[in-house]
Amino acid sequence: MERPPSLGFGLGLRPHYYPEILGRKPKVDWFEVISENFMVPGGQPLAVLERIRNDYPIVMHGVSMSIASTAPLDQDYLAALKGLAEHFQPEWISDHLCWTGVHGVNLHDLLPIPYTAEALDHVCDRIRRVQDFLGRRIAIENVSTYVTFAESEMDEWTFVRELCERADCWLLFDVNNVFVSSFNHDFDPLKFIDAVPRDRVVQIHLAGHSDHGTHKIDTHDQPITGDVWSLYAKVCPRFWHVSAMIERDDNFPPFGELLAELEHARMVHAEASPQRESAL
Ligand SMILES: [Fe+2]
Repeated sequence: MERPPSLGFGLGLRPHYYPEILGRKPKVDWFEVISENFMVPGGQPLAVLERIRNDYPIVMHGVSMSIASTAPLDQDYLAALKGLAEHFQPEWISDHLCWTGVHGVNLHDLLPIPYTAEALDHVCDRIRRVQDFLGRRIAIENVSTYVTFAESEMDEWTFVRELCERADCWLLFDVNNVFVSSFNHDFDPLKFIDAVPRDRVVQIHLAGHSDHGTHKIDTHDQPITGDVWSLYAKVCPRFWHVSAMIERDDNFPPFGELLAELEHARMVHAEASPQRESAL
């Protein structure tokens, strides 16, 4: 199984930071772009991406595949995704283990699924069909959740592990999402980490969340918390070879603060897996 390359430490590409990135060419190893932001013919977004792609590796991250929905796969969306990938040559393409709508309605949210054998069969089948169409493996991301289903027959981590093997896909492992879900549903996040199939993980997400006392929400509008840094340090010894990046989607700080967070990620990684630092 040929893995995509290790890219190092990246950031999510957001319009808020276009001037800084284009002007300074900052020390960022790679960028993750939101696929849907560039599914427009012509115009500024594509022109910006052309320039950034000349200087950095990119990966494409989508929010609309709705891979777990019971609605038919959106062939127009997949065709646009394939076209974008053929043009910009991302190292990989990812989306979320969720559904985002049904009956023609897009709720623009990453909705959870029950962890059942039936759902596993359904999602595996759809991932394989998408991969066949795109002609490449995709990476699927574990999401933050706020409800559980009485129908679930297995843990989330068992579902994810089975999914990766049976669909023959990659995993985008979001450490913040594991932390948020572990708090909301009172499970040990280390159980999730231990169960993740090491050779399937191609990318790690780090992000901030908001704390509402009784529950946490995956808002990407805060700095990464100490709890999530601690969890990342526990992830690194097993996943030292995996590209990592920071997602920030709101309440944008000065770009220098994000770069400082990225340096912190490098430091946590180096301290948690010092003998392997040179491999990234
Ligand atoms: Fe994420």
